[in-house]
Order: sequence, then structure tokens, then C-alpha cells
Amino acid sequence: MNTNLETILGSLTLEEKVSLLAGKDFWETVPIPDKGVPAIKTSDGPNGARGEVFAGGTRAACFPAAVCSAATWNPEFAHQIGNALAEETQTKGATVLLAPTMCNHRHPLGGRNFESFSEDPYLTGKMAANVVNGIQEKGVAATIKHFAANEQETERLFVDEIISERALREIYMKPFEITVKEANPWAVMTAYNKVNGTHADSNTFLLKQVLRGEWGWDGLVMSDWGGTNSTAESLNAGLDLEMPGPTRWRTKDAVIKAVKDGEVSEKTITERARHVLKLIEKVGAFKNPGIPPEQSIVNPAHSKLIRDVAGQGITLLKNENSILPLRKEKVKGKKIGLFGLAKEALIHGGGSASLNAHYRITPEEGLKNTYGDDVEFKFAKGAQTYRLLPPLAKRCKDAQGSHGWRMELFKDGDTSKAWKTVDGFKESSFSPILDHEAVGKEVRLTTTFTPSAAGKHYLGCSGIGPTTVTINDKVVFEQKNNSPDPMGFMLGGNPEEEFTVPFKEGESYKVQIHTLPPVGGSEWGILAGLPGFRMGFMLEEEHDLDLLTQAKELAKEVDIAIVFTGHTPAWETEGQDQQTFNLPREGSQDALVDAVASLNRNTIVVNSTGVAVAMPWLDKIAALVQAWFPGQEAGNAIADIICGAVNPSGRLPVSFPKRIEDAPAFGNFPGEKRDNQLTVKYEEGVFVGYRHYDRVSKEKVQFPFGFGLSYTTFAFDNGEVKQTSTDAFKATVTAKNTGNIAGATVIQLYVGRKQRSSEHPVKTLAAFKKVHLDAGEEKKFEIPVALRDFAYFDEASKGWKVDRGQYEFSFGQSTAQIDSVATIDIDGGRELKL
Ligand SMILES: *[C@@H]1O[C@H](CO)[C@@H](O)[C@H](O)[C@H]1NC(C)=O
Ligand SMILES: *[C@@H]1O[C@H](CO)[C@@H](O)[C@H](O)[C@H]1NC(C)=O
Ligand SMILES: *[C@@H]1O[C@H](CO)[C@@H](O)[C@H](O)[C@H]1NC(C)=O
Repeated sequence: MNTNLETILGSLTLEEKVSLLAGKDFWETVPIPDKGVPAIKTSDGPNGARGEVFAGGTRAACFPAAVCSAATWNPEFAHQIGNALAEETQTKGATVLLAPTMCNHRHPLGGRNFESFSEDPYLTGKMAANVVNGIQEKGVAATIKHFAANEQETERLFVDEIISERALREIYMKPFEITVKEANPWAVMTAYNKVNGTHADSNTFLLKQVLRGEWGWDGLVMSDWGGTNSTAESLNAGLDLEMPGPTRWRTKDAVIKAVKDGEVSEKTITERARHVLKLIEKVGAFKNPGIPPEQSIVNPAHSKLIRDVAGQGITLLKNENSILPLRKEKVKGKKIGLFGLAKEALIHGGGSASLNAHYRITPEEGLKNTYGDDVEFKFAKGAQTYRLLPPLAKRCKDAQGSHGWRMELFKDGDTSKAWKTVDGFKESSFSPILDHEAVGKEVRLTTTFTPSAAGKHYLGCSGIGPTTVTINDKVVFEQKNNSPDPMGFMLGGNPEEEFTVPFKEGESYKVQIHTLPPVGGSEWGILAGLPGFRMGFMLEEEHDLDLLTQAKELAKEVDIAIVFTGHTPAWETEGQDQQTFNLPREGSQDALVDAVASLNRNTIVVNSTGVAVAMPWLDKIAALVQAWFPGQEAGNAIADIICGAVNPSGRLPVSFPKRIEDAPAFGNFPGEKRDNQLTVKYEEGVFVGYRHYDRVSKEKVQFPFGFGLSYTTFAFDNGEVKQTSTDAFKATVTAKNTGNIAGATVIQLYVGRKQRSSEHPVKTLAAFKKVHLDAGEEKKFEIPVALRDFAYFDEASKGWKVDRGQYEFSFGQSTAQIDSVATIDIDGGRELKL
């Protein structure tokens, strides 16, 4: 078979070319065996290669979330993670990884922030470019996403984002630009949202003018899953591949009609098909066709990398009287209380980043591995943290008398006879993801339930479409309309109201759930027409248990208290933005920290979230460790920091405001709805993150961008800068470890005008370097800086510019701690080449 791409392309009929422009199924492309074109397989996602099953699929390595790896400020780690992700992708039979995610942390409530790196486009770009290089070196395609401006989850399929060209260029497109130029990703995924009124998938400005035009990039553009919104427009704008398949917009009839009507040219179809074939070629599939079965391979080198990256990403934010580290000799024979989420490994957020990890080390396991029998550990949960009541699975019998539920699907509204019946169905929830045979069907679940105890039980129910729950044929729940948030439904954050129902011990109850496909909803992308529901269930005693009192008792009894707080994947997930700035649920975690810290002066908080949250108890606690979502080695990595085996060197890649009201996008997130159209104005312009906090009172920031403590201390001195060419500089600075143990820090180099201007940020990150220094060691470091990395986009001339004048090169340990400043005259004012 000829494997010359142009020969193959030339042999394809128009219909065959069209068939290549959308997926075959959820993850694969369409093969044309007669012409020697194989299918290739894609896989989610950013912190591991999950494979084709959303939940409970083939096990995979879970890497730290991007926000955690960004906190290492170590691009070499990003490169190594890229290598490892490629190897993982290959174990899943895939050759295209849908990663990295690189949108901006515009607002602390952004549901998907954890999946991407930072509020700073330069840091994001440098980390992402290294991930991409690492992935593609191994012959696997990276897919940078989501282009562009996918900064919120609320109504993500429909929201219109109004952004100035300057902010778009300097903040939102810049990480993509850096990555395109430094790593040439083989694929780009478009965003779901509209940018200035035009869907990202058919956005000529984004795809044609900038990506393929100005940046000269020549890879494959695919849509986000269900994010294609047109036939001719998306083809003309440059969207090569509609995902997933089977196609909704690119049926042969629709495309060929568009060609006949002159809406799209055959040349354009050929060009789109060429990009698909080129991707197949780049991943080596013409030479090695066939998609191997998924495998689960635990690779010790990957486990070690995950622990190392997590160890450098976990960020120490407070450490009063050096309570940390709890060195083994210091705590021998002591009693340590573990509270909150100590028995849960919060290793990833929810949505496409979630996966069935090879294993998950909980903090309790990690600490026990570290301290062995030298320390006595005691546990109290202290707070309810679940988002939804767990589904009903136990003590249920299906119609055959075996464990579980009977699940029936009905077609065309005919409930007299089931189209399909499954007995032994696991639990009271039906998740429609990937189950295409359920499209348009009604679902009924039936079981005979025998409660273990008498008394009231809490129920919480919801459906994507109209849903009814009956107990012994009496209606206990009825939802007449569609879910107000179908996307949230899919990912575990359904809006549900709890209510109670009395049960008698030992008696049996017939429980039946009946749900219809959604009414309308054809615009819901991958959820269109799919039925779904869940019912949660909990005994009243368990539900109303006074966990806090137990925790208070334990807090009094122990020498040291470690409270684990954070967001489980249901609380921080793709598909939904966070509902509040406070930790869930209903203030229970804040109350727990407050209560424990009031009773025990040695309270350490370890917080696993991908975003900033409120910390009303910060003054009361002795230490705070921000653990992010550190991957499958979570507990070990946290224990490494707590016992001092690893000296913390994580630095915040996002600012933590004190109050949500002080966040720059506050008031413009998640936008305003008028005539059924949600619109969000990026009113803050380029003043995102520290670019905003730098110009307001320091009081507003709890922890500034770039901040992080160590078990030693550092100082920078003698910063200097020289211009080495028209657009390059060489900065030098002396860094000293001023403490008694070895450690690493990040030299952060910010550049800004000496003469402040309200039009421009005070300073922007233009270079950084992570450096390791032994105790007392002092060393001079050289840091190259490019003019372009602190240039601004001038809308009037549509070009990048640096104005003539004096500039300060500030060497900082965070945006708020600048140790040394060098000033230089720049003879700017020129237009830079794009
Ligand atoms: C988007 O629209 C706004 C308001 O009309 C405008 O100011 C801005 O320049 C537009 N952005 C782009 C990228 O064209
Ligand atoms: C496609 O975009 C148009 C225009 O923004 C919008 O009205 C429509 O609802 C979208 N359709 C789908 C299927 O998303
Ligand atoms: C948890 O971490 C987030 C950042 O990821 C931070 O904003 C928040 O304040 C922290 N909360 C706690 C409970 O420490």
C-alpha cells in the first residue's frame, strides 16, 4: 500500500474526504481501509491518559494537576511529565492526547482552573510548551486546548465572551502563541464558547487570521466534544475535525450540499482532509496502523516523577514558629490528630481530568508510611463534605431476586414493553455518558429495598429530563422539566434538594425511578437527547451525625492537629464553576478548622483545591500547606513536606485574594443573561491576577502570586541588566540561601515601566529560574529576557510595542517581595514583528 500522503489524498473521492472530517465514534477517527487510511485514537486528558471509559475504566497513572505542576516553576518537570504522559497514552492504544489545558485562571470560582496552569500567560506558556515537547518527542500528538478564552464553565456551550483584542492577545492567546512557537503542537482544540459573538469553532479571527496566519501554524484543529456548531462556517474558518463522532454537522449530504451551493469549496475540503492525514502520518499510523487494546501498566519511574513533581508543587503558605517540618525525632511518641479529608486522596479534579488511577495514596497512608509506629495517629472526620448523597446500592434486590436493580429502556414512548432489560444494575443512578443507545429512550429502574434500620431516610433526586420516583407506588419525587444544569448533571454536581421519607425496619419497599429523555435540548452538544438521573440516599442518623463534637474532643487530646480540607472532584469540576468562595459543604470545613484551631495551638491545615478559597480561620492556625491536586502519590508527597524529607519550594501560580469581592473579574463572572444569551465582559482587560492586585491595596491579597515558604530562607541581591541586542537582554542576580538547610527557590523577574502608567500593569513576569542552593551558598545567575515577553499589544497599530523609556527589572521572591531592582533605558517605540 502506498503511504505517500499526497498520493493517498489524490485517490480519495469527495465523499471519502468528507468522511475524514468528523470522528467515527467518541474517540477515534474514521478509517478508509480501501485507500490505506487507518483510524487513530484520542484520549483525555491533562493529568493522565484515561482511555475510553469515563469512570471505572482501564487504570492509568494520575499526574499532578497542571496548577500543581505550575507551582513547581520548573519547566524541566513539565518536559518529563510530557514524556511520561506520552508513554501512558500509548498504553491506552491512543496516539493523540487531549492535553495540555492552558486557559487562564481568570476568576477563583472557575470550575476548570485546576486543569490549567496559572493566571500568568508567560508561566503558562513556558510550562505548556515543555509538556508539548515532552509528549511529541515520543511520537504522540499533543492537543493544546481550549482555543480560546474558555475561562468559565457556566453555560460554556453558549456563553459569549466580549474581550478586547489587547487582552485576548496579551493574556488569553499568549500561552497558545508561546506553545505554538516553541513546541509546534500537532493539534489544537477549539473552545466551546463564543468569542465576541462568534463560536470558537467557526471563528475566522482565531483560527485563520491568528493561528494559521500570523503564527504560521500548520497542524490539525479539532472541536471540543460537541463543540462544533456549523457546517460550512467551521470548515471555512479552519476546523478540520468535528469531535466526537458520529458527525452531527458533517454528514455527506450536508457537506456535499454546501459544496454544491457554493458555501464551501472542494479545495477547502481537501485542505481539511490533508490536515487529518498529516496528523495520522505524524503519529506514525500509516506505518503502524491498528489500535492496540488498552493496558494498565504501573511504571515505577512515573510514580517517582509524580511524587517529585508533587513535592515541588505543594506550596507552604504559613509556618508560624517553624512548627513544620515535624521531623521524626521531634514528634516521636507524640499523638497526632488527623481531621477532615485525611482518608481521601484528592488527587485530581472532576471532568475530563478525572481517571481511574493506578492507586491513590491518602494523606493518612502517606503519614503512616513515613512515621511508622513512632507516632500515634487518631482520626476524626469532623465535617460532611459530600456534594450529593450516595446512590442507593445496598440491600436492593432486582426482579430476579439477585442483588441490584432492574434497568429497562423504552423506545418511542411505549412503556408496555421494554426495548432492553438489564438485571443486577448496580445502583440508583444512570449516567448517560457514552451510552448512545440510550439517546431518546425512557429509563426505568426498579428494586425491592429492605432498610437496615427504621426511621427517616434522606433522599436527593434529579434527572436530566422529567423524572418521577415512587415508593410502593406513591410518588415521593417529581421533576416536571429538564434539569436546570444538564452539564453539571453529567459531572456529579446536579442541583438536588434533600427530603426525608420514613421507612420501617425489615419491611420491603418497591422503589421505582422513571426518567424521560430531555424535552428539546438538541443544543446540548454531547448530551443532546440523553436521559439520565440519580437518587441519593442516607439514613437520618448518619446524615445528622454530630461530627464536629467528635473532632473537638480529639483536638483537645492530641499534641498536633492536621486538618485536611479541600474540594472533592464533585466540588471542583469541569462543567460547573464553584458556587462559593468558601469550602464546602455549607461551611462545615471552615467550622472544623476553626473549632480545631481554637482548641489546639499546633494546628496545621493541608488544603487540596485547584483554586483560591476563603480562609476565615487563617490567623488561628500555625501552618498552612497548599497541596493542590497532587496526583496518585498525594499522601506520600504531603508526608514528604510535613516531615521535612522534602524542603518545600512550590510558589503560587495564582494570587489568593482575601475576599472574592476583590478578585479582578468580580461582577463580570459568570456574566449576565439577557434574552436567553449569557454574555460575559472581560472588563478587567489585561489586569488579570497580580496585574490587578499590584495596582490596588496590598490588604486585598491573602497570598500574592509567586509566594511560597521554605524551611530555609533566601535573598537576592545585585540585580543587573544589559541589553544584548535590539530585542534581547541579559539579567544577572546573586541568590543566597540564608538559612541552615539546602533548598530551592524561584528567581522571578518582573519588568515594568519606571514611570507608572494606568494603561499598563505595574510589572509583568518576563522570566524565571528555579535554583537550588545549599545551606549558606551564594551564587550568581544569568537570566535571558526577550523584549517580546514584556511588550504590549497596541490596538491602534495592531502590533506589539515597547515604548521608549526607563524600565525596572525586578528580581522577586513573589510579586510582593522584590529584593533587587535594576533600571535600564530602552530605546523602544518600534513595532515588533508578529
Ligand atoms: C470584541 O468586541 C469588543 C466590543 O465590541 C471590542 O472592543 C473588541 O475589540 C473586540 N475584540 C476583538 C478581538 O476584536
Ligand atoms: C450555534 O450557534 C448559534 C449562534 O450562536 C446558536 O444560536 C445556536 O444555538 C448554536 N447551536 C448549537 C447546536 O450549539
Ligand atoms: C485552599 O486552597 C486554595 C487554593 O488552591 C486557597 O485559595 C484556599 O484559600 C485554600 N483554602 C484552605 C482551606 O486552605
